[in-house]
Amino acid sequence: MRVTGWRCAVCAATVDIATPFPWRCPNSTKHDRRHVLQIVEGDGGHGDVGFEPGSRLVAEPEPDANPYIRYDHDLAWAAYADVNGLDDTARRRLVRDLDTAVGAVAGTGFVPTPFGRSAALSDALGFTDGGGVWVKDETGGVGGSQKARHLFTILLHLRAAEELGHLTTRPPLAIASCGNAALAAATLARAADWSIDVFVPTWMTAGFGDELDRLGARTHRCERRSSDPPGDPAMFRFRQAVAAGAIPFTVQGPENALALDGGRTIGWEIRDQLVGAGIDHLDRIFVQVGGGAFAACLGATAPARRFHAVQTEGCAPLARAWGRALEAGTDGRPELAAPLWAELMVPWRDPHSVADGILDDETYDWIGVFEAIGARGDVPIVATEADVVAAHRLAQAAGFDVSPTGSAGLAGLLATIETIQPTEQVAVVMSGVAR
Ligand SMILES: Cc1ncc(COP(=O)(O)O)c(C=O)c1O
Ligand SMILES: [Zn+2]
Repeated sequence: MRVTGWRCAVCAATVDIATPFPWRCPNSTKHDRRHVLQIVEGDGGHGDVGFEPGSRLVAEPEPDANPYIRYDHDLAWAAYADVNGLDDTARRRLVRDLDTAVGAVAGTGFVPTPFGRSAALSDALGFTDGGGVWVKDETGGVGGSQKARHLFTILLHLRAAEELGHLTTRPPLAIASCGNAALAAATLARAADWSIDVFVPTWMTAGFGDELDRLGARTHRCERRSSDPPGDPAMFRFRQAVAAGAIPFTVQGPENALALDGGRTIGWEIRDQLVGAGIDHLDRIFVQVGGGAFAACLGATAPARRFHAVQTEGCAPLARAWGRALEAGTDGRPELAAPLWAELMVPWRDPHSVADGILDDETYDWIGVFEAIGARGDVPIVATEADVVAAHRLAQAAGFDVSPTGSAGLAGLLATIETIQPTEQVAVVMSGVAR
């Protein structure tokens, strides 16, 4: 097992891998949530930022289709289970049982999502036959987006804790989200037969509400009350629920570090699928950023020389934080920027874009995204709304049944296309299905 523990990127507090429920840094409080536990790996870890070309061009013999079994030895939930005595066979059974239940609820369990060169996108953007646009297509994944990949490792940790006697009652799960993350969370909760409270803003679209009802989630519409602190009222109620004992079942690293575990399976999958295609690296990958957990995970795992974190002009707190970090003389280095969290990462006022799944007013996992771009000498990209709309049209015309949020990484490619050689291999993630 490669994961040896957890370390806070802000205050350097450490948590042993054997500890159950390592959701938040021990120094994270009600008044100061500006901490995030990151995975610490021992020798032989694959998760280092950076990439050595050619280092992984070795196909595995008949890997398991389930990513949580295939990458068991790299996952933090599995390392926790392992050191406490749940061996490979026990973990495999645990994954299989839950996965079967997920399949019954969602119509699909966890299997590798498609990855391939899109001839339509490559031609439309003028790439040569030797180069091209590669697409990781998450639209057919559990819950129709990448979100379930992050959440499943929280659920596996919880089920392992039950088996180990570390968890003897079932407090409700809780999440604040009005979109894909809520649907993924409700799907997994249903599969595990675990109750869940979903805190949503008043403006949630009816379709999502109906689906959450169908999945048996308890949905709470959160109005802004005059007594509330500034920020998202749904997030505030979610934190109240967690303070009252609920389990944070959320895709934000500072609220639950285990969300930063399973998201990495997508990056490893891209690596292994590239090997299958006879390629050892990508020149670039473009990843859309909302709360930032997804980009933090891909940044740590995707075999790409350049890493482009993409936000929209209507909500770009990451790019603003990057600019402030440079002004503050940190050179964008995460370890220098982390202590400045309160000054650098402040809520964006009035977020707006048709890519409404990435309108998080704060990039909660900004430190992990800084690591991903900084390690490769990159900077955040801000796409215009016109690029976001054009990318969505292009993606749909190329045959992807994707939402504007799901194709927002492609908007980053459109925004920078003039700087890219037609011979390059670039990748985007179609991260969410059209609704
Ligand atoms: C379809 C889709 N893609 C990408 C994202 C961005 O993920 P993250 O919030 O981890 O940055 C989200 C959610 O925010 C999403 O729903
Ligand atoms: Zn800390």
